[in-house]
Amino acid sequence: MKAIILESDRLIYKPLSIEHLSHDYVEWLNDPEVYQYMETRGNYTLEKLEDFLNKVKRKDILFWGVHLKDSLLHLGNIKIDPVNDRHGTAEYGIMMGRKSEWGKGYAKEASLTIIDYCFNIIELRKITLGVITNNISAVELYKKIGFKTEGILLKQCIYDGVYHDALRMAIFNPKIHHDE
Ligand SMILES: CC(C)(COP(=O)(O)OP(=O)(O)OC[C@H]1O[C@@H](n2cnc3c(N)ncnc32)[C@H](O)[C@@H]1OP(=O)(O)O)[C@@H](O)C(=O)NCCC(=O)NCCS
Repeated sequence: MKAIILESDRLIYKPLSIEHLSHDYVEWLNDPEVYQYMETRGNYTLEKLEDFLNKVKRKDILFWGVHLKDSLLHLGNIKIDPVNDRHGTAEYGIMMGRKSEWGKGYAKEASLTIIDYCFNIIELRKITLGVITNNISAVELYKKIGFKTEGILLKQCIYDGVYHDALRMAIFNPKIHHDE
């Protein structure tokens, strides 16, 4: 499955591509405040990012760059990957790297738009994610858009020598009945 261009009130979503290569994007990936609770751990260069974006281009993947509609400024990315066709499930990931735009509701608007697309167009049944319990802004975002906690994985990750618990969260497609 490949991403297509989508739009919402203030934002436009473009399939992630080499067009997204920028110094700002490299800066986000090297910013400890951004990657604090993410698997990526910095040490990015423009060349490494270029290589990553070229690999993304060759894949069938639901991966979007999120942009302001007015200026086309790149704010971050959303990924729905992997998708499990047999079970109708997929894993959600978001990184809004442009810190100056945090707290303006962009992650919420973007998440609701992408999830709506996944449920109503692709007809996924369930979207899942993992998040570190200390990542308050992400946990609050996920709760606000309707994700529910399904489990807690104790001391699941080690970041900078410290153990962290992780939540497994999920949201079901309301159009699909899950009763037995
Ligand atoms: C987590 C992240 C996506 C939030 O982006 P954002 O654009 O600042 O989020 P929003 O402004 O859309 O906020 C969404 C909701 O979460 C809540 N929220 C956001 N940050 C919060 C915080 N620090 N404390 C409490 N609530 C918070 C807001 O109240 C908001 O709900 P509301 O609109 O009903 O008030 C962004 O900080 C980010 O990309 N962080 C780095 C990467 C990362 O950790 N990704 C998640 C990995 S699991």
